[in-house]
Amino acid sequence: MTSNALDVFIERTRSVWGPLTTDMATNCRASLEGLLQAPMSEPWLSALHAEASETKELYRDPQHGFVLLVHAEFAGLYRPPHDHGRSWGIYAVQKGEIEMATYARIEDPDGKVRLVKRDETLVRPGQSKVFLPGDIHDTHCVSGPALLYRFTERDLKKEDKEEHRVTRYAERDGIWTVGLA
Ligand SMILES: [Fe+2]
Repeated sequence: MTSNALDVFIERTRSVWGPLTTDMATNCRASLEGLLQAPMSEPWLSALHAEASETKELYRDPQHGFVLLVHAEFAGLYRPPHDHGRSWGIYAVQKGEIEMATYARIEDPDGKVRLVKRDETLVRPGQSKVFLPGDIHDTHCVSGPALLYRFTERDLKKEDKEEHRVTRYAERDGIWTVGLA
């Protein structure tokens, strides 16, 4: 039986799965970067390019709960700073170029919150970036159309809508601060 790159990714990820450690994150990143090497001749991948869905779930692990989504993005699409609650994850670029920045959350003595940008990385096809629990980040598609894999340790929709653990930030007078009430 032949298996495609998606099956290989799932199998590899399942085989290393466990509590979050440097090794685990490194191994999952390696398997996701392996997925980025999938040839366009694989039907599931050419279908993804043809569909260009805004969001599509490619896999959800019934035992461990990790989820692999793919997003088609157009040049200029900006997703403002947010975290992923308790989840960690990996963003990997299949096509296009996406700038990813990370921020630290600074709280003044009076309780006012502002974000300070730590760094900005241009992620190109074949490359990926790991975000650990609590990492605040934004993404900006600078070259599109792009295809972005979003691998997360758990279902982010649940973490957001049911557990209310996800924090989003909004820009006010040129400063990123906690989302508008
Ligand atoms: Fe994110």
